[in-house]
Amino acid sequence: MNIRPRRLRRTAALRDLVAETTVDSRALVQPHFVLPGDRDTQPIDAMPGIARMGCEPLLQRVEADLELGIRSVLLFGVGAPKDATGSAGSDPQSPAHRAITRLKAAFGEDLTVIADVCLCTYTDHGHCGLLEGGQVANDPSLPLLARQAVSLAAAGADVIAPSDMMDGRVAAIRQGLDVDGFADRAILSYAVKYASSFYGPFREAADSAPKSVGPRDRKTYQMDWRNRDEALREAELDLAEGADILMVKPALAYLDVIARVADHTGAPIAAYLVSGEYSMIKLMAGAGMAEERELVREHLHAVRRAGARILVTYHARQALAEGWL
Ligand code: PBG
Repeated sequence: MNIRPRRLRRTAALRDLVAETTVDSRALVQPHFVLPGDRDTQPIDAMPGIARMGCEPLLQRVEADLELGIRSVLLFGVGAPKDATGSAGSDPQSPAHRAITRLKAAFGEDLTVIADVCLCTYTDHGHCGLLEGGQVANDPSLPLLARQAVSLAAAGADVIAPSDMMDGRVAAIRQGLDVDGFADRAILSYAVKYASSFYGPFREAADSAPKSVGPRDRKTYQMDWRNRDEALREAELDLAEGADILMVKPALAYLDVIARVADHTGAPIAAYLVSGEYSMIKLMAGAGMAEERELVREHLHAVRRAGARILVTYHARQALAEGWL
């Protein structure tokens, strides 16, 4: 036999030599949930190994993670007071704002701080936009999202990441940032975000599930997972509105979408390996069904192979700390 694909699979070193895909610490973004109490740490039951942290433990953690090579974080403020309009979302004293200011003061340009923009952790109804007449109102939500984005930029965020899925929010945020002197801050838009059940553990972590008023789910604004062409329309729209990086979310069940958006737009693509993907691996590994290291390596490489340049993953720290990559 002339052709034997197995020749290149004979040793680990040979397999490494011909590997088409690599995952590098520079591509990883570690998400964090920030608490109001400076010294608090609260484990998240639905996400083994992940805790909500106040500023002090967060700073220590980020410093240790920088040593490991994690140079980007994505921040979610949790535990702030909730009201109908999510006003704490743009309060400079909110957990997210305070953490951003502290992190940038401590680590400057060594650390890229990405700030999530959305109302769902700040509204008492748990929706990502304003509720009007029992519906999630699109256009009235835009100024609030833009205001939140500007306040996070003022706190020092390098990158603004809107995850709300209101139409036109990238344009509104871009304009808000430019007018207020933050033309240099990038927008990473959750351009292609599906209405997914894989966000379940996150909603426990952030206490952001839709509550008893308004629609029971997010299907009137997040995307229908039966759709693939629609992903291109969403991606093109966000690029036209001024997005610098496009995110597809979740990752594992949407590899076809990541590949298509990457091929068609040529824009930098991020993929979010979401809370349910993380916890699924933890549960499998915990039950002895597979090795966590192998599951994580396969997961990360698959998402890169599909075309994502940036990987947002709760496993970032553990993967580097344990030398899994
Ligand atoms: C807020 C937001 C969500 C996630 C990121 N930003 C939850 C949601 O849309 O309900 C999910 C992240 C994860 O599951 O890890 N809109």
